[in-house]
Amino acid sequence: MGKKIVQFAAWMSIILMVASSVSAAVKVSSEAGAVNRMVIHVDEGKETIAPEIYGHFAEHLGRCVYEGFWVGEDSEIPNVRGIRTDVVEALKKLDIPVLRWPGGCFADEYHWKEGIGPREERPSMVNTHWGMVTETNAFGTHEFLDLCEQLDCEAYIAGNVGSGTVEEMQDWVEYMTFAGDSEMANLRRQNGREEPWRVKYFGVGNENWGCGGNMTPEYYADLYKCYQTYVRSYSGNAIVKVACGPSSDDYRWLTTVLERANRHMHAISVHHYVRGSGNWTRKGSATEFDEGEWFALMKNTLTIYDLLKGCSEIMDRFDRRGRIGLFVDEWGTWWDAEPGTNPAFLYQQNTVRDAVSAGIFLNAFNDHCDRVRMGNIAQTNNVLQAMILTDGPKMIVTPTYHVFEMYKVHQGATYLPSDLTCRAYGRSGQELPSLTASASKGKSGQIYITVCNLDATKPAEFVCELDGAKANRVAGRVLTGPTMNAMNTFDEPEAVKPVSLNGIAVQNGAIKVTLPARSVSVLTVQ
Ligand code: AHR
Repeated sequence: MGKKIVQFAAWMSIILMVASSVSAAVKVSSEAGAVNRMVIHVDEGKETIAPEIYGHFAEHLGRCVYEGFWVGEDSEIPNVRGIRTDVVEALKKLDIPVLRWPGGCFADEYHWKEGIGPREERPSMVNTHWGMVTETNAFGTHEFLDLCEQLDCEAYIAGNVGSGTVEEMQDWVEYMTFAGDSEMANLRRQNGREEPWRVKYFGVGNENWGCGGNMTPEYYADLYKCYQTYVRSYSGNAIVKVACGPSSDDYRWLTTVLERANRHMHAISVHHYVRGSGNWTRKGSATEFDEGEWFALMKNTLTIYDLLKGCSEIMDRFDRRGRIGLFVDEWGTWWDAEPGTNPAFLYQQNTVRDAVSAGIFLNAFNDHCDRVRMGNIAQTNNVLQAMILTDGPKMIVTPTYHVFEMYKVHQGATYLPSDLTCRAYGRSGQELPSLTASASKGKSGQIYITVCNLDATKPAEFVCELDGAKANRVAGRVLTGPTMNAMNTFDEPEAVKPVSLNGIAVQNGAIKVTLPARSVSVLTVQ
């Protein structure tokens, strides 16, 4: 699977493109007068885009869970059983399919038994990864699964391998999902929940190559096999077991874990964070940047295509029939924390640049939906590339939130293969494709096309043809901003939001439209 991004450029830049890490299958042409052209093969759709590709992640980190979700039952902020209503309502508009919790790095130091029972009796702990702050355990298993029920989404729990025991993990799954008479199920009843919950996804550790225990892949693979043995499917709750995969392209980790444990997993994760030209110490500002930094983020975001191709090829070696899913269960942009905030809380603003980056990721996931069966952007509220920012009772949604809202039409739709030809977006002797796009067919026959214009300054004339059909009526929406760093703030919460994409023409069944510079668009074709 994958799309051909055909790049028109001069010969030297053609050579650069071949060598670059741009897409799954880059075709190069030196034709002059290129147009941006997408051809969608309407009759060749085979794969379903898993709704979970559009999933989210909430960690006990900074103000994601506390303040972001949990305000407590006595709060003046409207809430249902302590969970704030405005945030739940906003996320429901995204058709949020799945939520991953409690970490992240936090998962491998979380002891779930401290987070059940009467809240006033729960012990506190130190959140050693994220600022050494006191974790009250007010938000625990019952609260999280209540949140998933309020959101009407699947639960994805990350278990503790780094500092937890096999017994602790087994007990947790039994506590949540066993319908019969057992010590754990009865403890759940004693704590107010008679019926078991549905918990579809369970991760056996998180980043065990780093914050989850600094393990070698050999050691982790052996531990994984042991721990997962006791992650049982109780009472009809068919649990999907997720092994910890690599950080980005650490293919040795991926290969070793698959080689040793592939028969014991339903999915394996990969984490992929991106930034501009910065490094882990100075990642760069989320809001103050020039076009060079814009370009650097676009370039780094496009590495997702090569990463998914690389992971898929390795997975094919150990799992020819495609049984094991690739879960990109942490991804997104990572900038320096906003000035004046606790750096350990990873609070960052979110601009049109983040939105275009998100659109590229999501197009890439669609393009690899034969393997990519889940994605969880980091993180839901107030942390990293957040959907939602809160300030006391105030809440705003970010440009990235709007991308998820625009792309939700792909959830559960049939992926349509396509070929994309586009001009280069060049800067300082480097060139990138100026567009990425993906397409799907919804249950009632509409075709959805999502397309990102990566170029910070130039609009793109875009032509889209349907191979096997003719477009009739087409509607479009677009997200962009007056500047590269346009964002929503508590004073101006709607500065960046989707508007209708005007000027769409249909000629002989082909669609023509101008895509604004630095934009994400969705077209719905009848
Ligand atoms: O999302 C923030 C952190 O990034 C997570 O806790 C960890 O898994 C990753 O390194």
